[in-house]
Amino acid sequence: MDLETMTVAPPEETEEEKREHIVRILNDFAGQPGSLIQILHIVQQVYGHLPLDMQRMVADRLDLPLSEVVGVSSFYSLFTTQPRGEHTIRVCLGTACYVRGGEKICKRLGEKLGVEVGETTADRKFTFEVMRCMGACGLAPAMMIDETVLRQVNPDRVGGILAKYQ
Ligand code: FES
Repeated sequence: MDLETMTVAPPEETEEEKREHIVRILNDFAGQPGSLIQILHIVQQVYGHLPLDMQRMVADRLDLPLSEVVGVSSFYSLFTTQPRGEHTIRVCLGTACYVRGGEKICKRLGEKLGVEVGETTADRKFTFEVMRCMGACGLAPAMMIDETVLRQVNPDRVGGILAKYQ
C-alpha cells in the first residue's frame, strides 16, 4: 500500500474512529520498520500532530524502540508533537520586517492571542510562530496566516485581522 491509496481521516472522525483508522494502517505495515516516516505522516494527517500514545503504538507494531520513533518525529520539521491550531500565524522577523516593526506585530499578537511564540491558543484556533524572510521585503513588515501573505501590517490592525479568522 502506498500513501496515495490510503484514505485520510475526515476531520469529523471521533477519537475512537481515529484510533481504529491508525490500527488498520498499522496492521498493513506490521513488522515493516522502513515504513516509519510514511506511517507518522498518516498519523499526523489523522490527528493533526503526533500524540505520544500513537508514537508508542507505532513503535510496538513496527518492532522499533520508542526512542527511535520519538527521535524521527522530533528530527523532521514536518512533524509536530504538539496540537496545532486551526490557523497558523507566522510573523516575519527577517531583517527588513524586523527593522520596520515585526517585533511590534509579535508583541501585539501575543497580547491578543494570549500565547507566546511557538504556542497554540487554548481554543486551538491559532498557532503563533515566527519565520525568516518570506520574500515580501519590499512591503515589510509582513506576516502570513496559513497560505495568505499580509503585507505592510500595522500592529494596530492585528485585532481586525484576527477577527476575520474567528
Ligand atoms: S524580511 Fe520579511 S519578507 Fe523579507
